[in-house]
Amino acid sequence: MEDEDMTTKLDTVKLADGNEMPTVGFGTYLIDTQELMDSTIKTAYETGYRLFDTAQLYRNEDLLGDTLAKQSIPRDQIFITSKVAEISQGFDNAIASIDDSLKRLKTSYLDLVMVHWPVHDHFFETWKALEQLKKDGKVKSIGVANFELSHLELLKTQAEEMPVVNQIECHPYLSQKPLIEFDKENDIVTQAWSPLGRGVVLDDPMLKKMAAHHNVSVAQLVLRWHTTNGVTIIPKSKTPERIQENIQLDFDLTEDEIDMINIMNRNQRTGREPELVYELGKQYKLRKD
Ligand SMILES: NC(=O)c1ccc[n+]([C@@H]2O[C@H](COP(=O)([O-])OP(=O)(O)OC[C@H]3O[C@@H](n4cnc5c(N)ncnc54)[C@H](OP(=O)(O)O)[C@@H]3O)[C@@H](O)[C@H]2O)c1
Repeated sequence: MEDEDMTTKLDTVKLADGNEMPTVGFGTYLIDTQELMDSTIKTAYETGYRLFDTAQLYRNEDLLGDTLAKQSIPRDQIFITSKVAEISQGFDNAIASIDDSLKRLKTSYLDLVMVHWPVHDHFFETWKALEQLKKDGKVKSIGVANFELSHLELLKTQAEEMPVVNQIECHPYLSQKPLIEFDKENDIVTQAWSPLGRGVVLDDPMLKKMAAHHNVSVAQLVLRWHTTNGVTIIPKSKTPERIQENIQLDFDLTEDEIDMINIMNRNQRTGREPELVYELGKQYKLRKD
């Protein structure tokens, strides 16, 4: 797929499998009560969000399923993403876990399912399970999260179909340029998780200056930087005004501004190092003793 194809529409991006995915989605990590899920999804939907990102690990698929059913949001108007947890990796486990996710989300299909983290054990079997789920029509698109270049290269050696999305931690302090380039060259859409660095980048003096110049918030500046770089985003907020502003990105940044943000990289993560999760098979920190 040509780069152009990925950006021809402002609000959606065409995936390598032909499906369309909204450029801006709503992250639901830590949205952990029914009340909060109801209010945030209502605001998000009314404001224009159509992609809702959950995961088995967030333990909120049932909350999201209840909210979507209660608010009678037509299924074909929204895009639901979930992710197979480390504990559910392996062929049979992954299939059974997605059957559970479908029940919790009260839907007959998911728009996108990802392997949440690469792990050494079950690396290929889990992917084969996703390929099977797609063939069975339970999942429209299949992708990965937290895959480094090496994991994608390894997957390529046995995959029948490559992931169409790679969801990775990405923000101005972890700009991930080489991986984003690799994704583009391989027809994989990059989706940034923690696109605001969980808030850590919002106090940066240079970003504040640039945002003031455009009369936008630092969050909007950072989110627009992502989308200009061809990266799709799933910001999370439980605050109505922030949910609204995070999808109002109709302003342009100059090439110089984009470059200035690109070079702020410090390789600073808020989450785990994927290579460590790959080795340990889980996200726990290494014990010091
Ligand atoms: N694949 C993975 O391994 C993985 C890992 C982590 C996250 N994710 C996904 O990515 C989504 C987003 O990442 P995230 O939740 O870690 O971090 P994030 O979206 O970068 O940041 C969320 C934080 O920023 C604040 N915030 C949001 N909008 C703001 C604004 N306009 N102005 C000021 N502050 C703002 C939020 O505060 P309030 O909520 O208090 O407003 C919250 O504290 C998650 O919800 C989840 O769906 C995926």
